[in-house]
Amino acid sequence: MGDFFTIEWQDGAVVMLDQRLLPTREIYRTYRDYRGVARAIKDMVIRGAPAIGVAAAMGIALGARQLKKIEQSEEFERLCQEFAATRPTAVNLFWAIDRMRAVYDRVRKQGRDVICARLEREAIKVHDEDIAINRRMGRFGATLIPKGATVMTHCNAGALATAGYGTALGVIRAAWEQGKNISVFVPETRPFLQGARLTAWELQKEGIPATLITDNMVGHFMQKGKIDCVVVGTDRTAANGDVANKIGTYTNAVLAARHEVPFYVAAPTSSIDLACPGGEQIPIEERSAREVTHVFGRQVAPTGMRVANPAFDVTPHDLVSAIITEKGIARDPYLKVLSQLVGNGQKKKKRGNGEEK
Ligand code: MRU
Repeated sequence: MGDFFTIEWQDGAVVMLDQRLLPTREIYRTYRDYRGVARAIKDMVIRGAPAIGVAAAMGIALGARQLKKIEQSEEFERLCQEFAATRPTAVNLFWAIDRMRAVYDRVRKQGRDVICARLEREAIKVHDEDIAINRRMGRFGATLIPKGATVMTHCNAGALATAGYGTALGVIRAAWEQGKNISVFVPETRPFLQGARLTAWELQKEGIPATLITDNMVGHFMQKGKIDCVVVGTDRTAANGDVANKIGTYTNAVLAARHEVPFYVAAPTSSIDLACPGGEQIPIEERSAREVTHVFGRQVAPTGMRVANPAFDVTPHDLVSAIITEKGIARDPYLKVLSQLVGNGQKKKKRGNGEEK
């Protein structure tokens, strides 16, 4: 899967590839203080819903060792809340925090050494399971990709956005590994350029033929019949199948519907939020104006310009042809099928903004 890793637990420290510097520099950062990990999530050293979840799990394992009174659940909860405040949209963050909380609650009375060891074990488990889940999802998803197809993705839902292999890019990878002779269209994904900087980098490393385009070229290429299907990831998929993903995903879905191009979403069950009834209820992160007004430190808009920078949008479920999970492929009616797929494992408890916990 290439010669890099996204995030690892190494000798009691969290090590991650600094994604802000790709594709030109491959620099790994080592964090021994949990605050550094929380900052890294906020600042997008690491990004992508499943990777954010893994980083939070490892950050909590790290932070627990720094707590003076680890048996006091208020202290542990404060630590969890610091991670919950990093990025609001990706539900994997809250899913991972819930997992760490559950472990803590089970062993809280067993002393510092046991608590720390169990939290560390759980964080590594979250990491390792994610790779296995992506491989399974990839195999299911590849059945939807015809031989020789040109597949479009959006943003980066690859190894860099996960513990490894990727969700949407995992589907593309699996189809490639099966010898389907596919090629990929990669919109650059302004303002953070995850497509140009990260997806293009991953595809090139893998040797999968890919064409980089700007975001506003998608309609043109669909009109010309150059795109056979779309596969994207998701930060949070609601119970009814509405999909929050990187800004621009909705535009691509509308275009796909107009041109009768199948639009698929790769969603591990950790990204499906059954407690969230529909897209309206998904919190959308607003990021700094500077991401829009500046490109690599260079100002590209007049000083004082008013700016909007929502990091995600919501694609209504009627524009989604299928949702690929590690447990199988869901099609409409999503409300029924997703709750069957995600199953009893996920209770309908609200995640994300902390209400109704
Ligand atoms: O702002 P980012 O880079 O964290 O946004 C990432 C995305 O929108 C991905 O498509 C999504 O997290 C799925 S990643 C497997």
